[in-house]
Amino acid sequence: MAGASIIPSQVLHKSPASASDLELPYSNAVDSRQGFFTKELKTPLEDVKRYCNFYEFGTGKTDPEKHAQSLTTDPWSLEVQGEVLHPGTLHLEDILSSFQLEERIYRLRCVEAWSMVIPWIGFPLSKLLARFEPKSSAKYVEFRTLYRPTEMPGTRSIFGSIDWPYREGLRIDEAMHPLSLLAVGLYGKTLPNQNGAPIRLVVPWKYGFKSIKSLVSIRLLRSQPSTTWQKLAPNEYGFYANVNPDVSHPRWSQRTERRLPTSFFDPRRINTELFNGYAEQVGSLYAGMDLKKYF
Ligand code: MTE
Repeated sequence: MAGASIIPSQVLHKSPASASDLELPYSNAVDSRQGFFTKELKTPLEDVKRYCNFYEFGTGKTDPEKHAQSLTTDPWSLEVQGEVLHPGTLHLEDILSSFQLEERIYRLRCVEAWSMVIPWIGFPLSKLLARFEPKSSAKYVEFRTLYRPTEMPGTRSIFGSIDWPYREGLRIDEAMHPLSLLAVGLYGKTLPNQNGAPIRLVVPWKYGFKSIKSLVSIRLLRSQPSTTWQKLAPNEYGFYANVNPDVSHPRWSQRTERRLPTSFFDPRRINTELFNGYAEQVGSLYAGMDLKKYF
């Protein structure tokens, strides 16, 4: 594990409320067999920052870039509770100084059939969970985003149907898988607010809505938690949400995706792969499961 000394002091002692755009120290992932990086063309930073889904800041793709800048991300803490031997809270500073950061270049496939390739900076979720010592009764993990209506215009909409805070969940073996990442940055710097600052989950073999942003709470549970999109439209969004070209969304096919950035002349439509191309790494987690039933 990295000592506090390798973290630049401006990352540990940044001015209140402004944590974005600071350089992060990290090592490069070396093992492509584990799916830790892809040589595919990366989505330019400007597109990653401009085309976002973060409903707390509005439903339009550019709303998060416009409205998330006022989100206060410092101070920030993350609590870990439930079926663990040592429940507790970590401040962002503790997290940055405790876990060795690495770059992971992952495909991100949204359920809306667009995709990107993003160089994240982060560390395995399993390392954070291990620190709190999950009990054998911990079968699932629930994640929650910050809910702060004063800074999140999307949560104040009277037409909204989301029951805030935004919630997601994984099975414990999915959470412990080496590909499940807690990201604190992208393109070598701290996360832009609209991409989930200061800390978010990235689960590359699942539709993007599982990759919950701006995390404040993790709970280890005995039973499967209720999740935001499943609660809103259970026939459209499942708990598993594994990328799967053979299981259509009720309103559109999942066979292909638009790899951003696209243009009228260059739609960049490519075939979608099972588990978003990570089948070799994660296929065994779902051996014997009916993926049409558990979508
Ligand atoms: N997390 C929260 N809290 N709120 C959201 O609206 N949208 C999800 C996911 N995480 C969302 C969220 C969806 S639908 C996608 S596709 C990804 O974030 C998009 O991540 P990006 O905007 O960084 O590309």
